[in-house]
Amino acid sequence: MKINKKVEDVLNKQVNAELWSAYLYLSMSAWCERQGLKGFANWMRVQFQEETSHALKIYDYILNRSGEINLQPIAAVERSWKNVLELFEATYNHECAVSEMITSCYETALAEKDHATAGMLQWFIDEQTEEESNALEIIDQIKLVGDKGDGIFFIDKELASRTFVDSTKKAE
Ligand code: FEO
Repeated sequence: MKINKKVEDVLNKQVNAELWSAYLYLSMSAWCERQGLKGFANWMRVQFQEETSHALKIYDYILNRSGEINLQPIAAVERSWKNVLELFEATYNHECAVSEMITSCYETALAEKDHATAGMLQWFIDEQTEEESNALEIIDQIKLVGDKGDGIFFIDKELASRTFVDSTKKAE
């Protein structure tokens, strides 16, 4: 069944929000590179890829439901942070904001009795829980070791090992 206009609109807005998230993490990655934190930069660059895959998951879904794609401008993002603690607090806050957007899309789908879209969005609801908890875990580590010296060097080494795995391809 062709997607209804209200649901199509909120999903198009969510494509924009996911691309905006990708943009934010790319900006964060660039900031980390400039600080000489290659591992942090890698983590953020993988996050950029994750967000791009999220945007494409919704994009493909709209097209599969015979909907129309409406790509709007992507808002500018921050370019600098005080330190890595502030960086990851911003990451956590951003993910919480995205979670609220996903919840709002889910509620629209239910209000329109579009259970197929609600089902697709359930994947995002689970993913958001994981993204919030990943950011919180790194905040805890930074608080434990401080944001300078050997401790941060150790976390940087850890974050260097993150690789992109396209989780949107897993079964829903
Ligand atoms: Fe796709 Fe991190 O929200």
